[in-house]
Amino acid sequence: MSNSFRIPRSRTFETHRALRDQFMAAIEPLVLNTYSHSAQVRAELEAAFAAEVNAKYAVAVGSGTIALFLALRACGIGPGDEVITVANSDISTTAAITNCGARPLVADVLPSDYTMNPDLVEALITPKTRALLPVDLHGHPANVKRLRELANQHNLKIVEDAALATGAQDYGRPVGAFADAAIFSLAPFKPFGSAGNGGIVVTDDEEIYRQLCLLADYGHAPRQPDQPAAYQNYIAEGYNVPLDALQAAILLVKLPYLKQWTAKRRAIGEALAAGLAGASARTPSLRPESAPTFRSYTIRVDRQLEVHQALRDAGIEAVIHYAPPITRYSVYAGLFPNKDQLPVTERLGREIVNLPVSPEFTDEDVNYMIETTRNILKSHN
Ligand SMILES: Cc1ncc(COP(=O)(O)O)c(C=O)c1O
Repeated sequence: MSNSFRIPRSRTFETHRALRDQFMAAIEPLVLNTYSHSAQVRAELEAAFAAEVNAKYAVAVGSGTIALFLALRACGIGPGDEVITVANSDISTTAAITNCGARPLVADVLPSDYTMNPDLVEALITPKTRALLPVDLHGHPANVKRLRELANQHNLKIVEDAALATGAQDYGRPVGAFADAAIFSLAPFKPFGSAGNGGIVVTDDEEIYRQLCLLADYGHAPRQPDQPAAYQNYIAEGYNVPLDALQAAILLVKLPYLKQWTAKRRAIGEALAAGLAGASARTPSLRPESAPTFRSYTIRVDRQLEVHQALRDAGIEAVIHYAPPITRYSVYAGLFPNKDQLPVTERLGREIVNLPVSPEFTDEDVNYMIETTRNILKSHN
C-alpha cells in the first residue's frame, strides 16, 4: 500500500519491494534458528556500520532517542551538568539531556544551514558545562570540526546528533568524525532506515564504547573467568535496549547501497536548489567543505502554513520540521531563560517547509515538485 500523495515523503517501499528476496533470506534464519543468532546479526551490523562511517565501534540500539541518551550517559553526563544544544530539533535532543538529570542550554543557529552557530557557543559555557550536542538537521552537517576546538579548550565532550545525516560527510570525513560519540536514527523516514525503530551510536573511544555496551545490556558485566557460569553479574543499572535483530538484518541488506542513495539524495537536493533559484523561497546554503545528505529539502517562505497546505493539496507530502522551536514547548515552560534571544531559530520555526526527498524519485517527480512549488510561491506572495 502506498499513500495518496503523488510525491510522498518517502518511496522507500519501492526499494524494499525490490530487495524482497534478500530481506526474506536474511530474516528467515532469525525466526527459525536459535535466538542466539540475533546477537550475531546485530554484531555484524555494528561492525559493518562502524566501517561505513570510519568509526572504531558501533552499538545498535532501539531508537535514535535512546541512542542519544546512552551516548550522553556513556560520556559521563549526569545530574548537575549542563549540555549546550540547539532548539531547532526533535524533542529527543533535549529530552536525552534532561533524562540524564542534566540541564540543556540552547545556542542560536546559522541562517545559512540551520546548524549550531559556533560563534555563539562560548558565551553559554559555565563551570557546569560538560558537553556540546550539535544537530546535523535535515542532513546538513554542523561544523563539529570548529566546535571541537572549543570543546578541547574547555574540556567538553561532543555528542553529535546525526539522526538525519547518515551518509553525509564534512571536511572529507563521515559525520561524527570530530565528535566523541555520534548517533544515527535508523527509523523508516531517515536517510538510512529500517522497517521499524532503531538507532546506532558510533565512537572511537574504547571507554565510551564499554559504557555503551554496559548500559544497552542491563548493566551486565562481561563474564569473569572465576564466576560460576550460572550466575549473573551486574556492575551498573542499565537498560534492555538492543536493536531488534530483524531490523539489523534488514539494514545489513541495505547498507551496501547507502553511498548510492546518498548521492541520489544530494542530486535531488541540488536539482531542487537549481530549480527553485530566483523563486521567492529561501533555500539553504551549505559550507563548501560539507557534503550533506538530504533527508528532506527545506525551503523558507513567508506564508509557511499556507504554502505547506498548498503543496499537500497539490499532491506533495510537505512537512514542517521542526516548529515551533523546542524552547516553546509547554513541557519546557520556564526552562530556557534565553528563549527570546534566538532570532534565527525563531525565524526558521515560522518559515520552514520541508519538501520530500527519496532516492527513488524520478526526474519527472523532481520537476513536478519544482514547477508546483514555483507556482504556489507565485500565488502566495
Ligand atoms: C534530529 C533528531 N534527533 C533525534 C531523533 C530521534 O530519533 P528516533 O526517532 O530514531 O528516536 C530524531 C527523530 O526524528 C531527530 O529528528
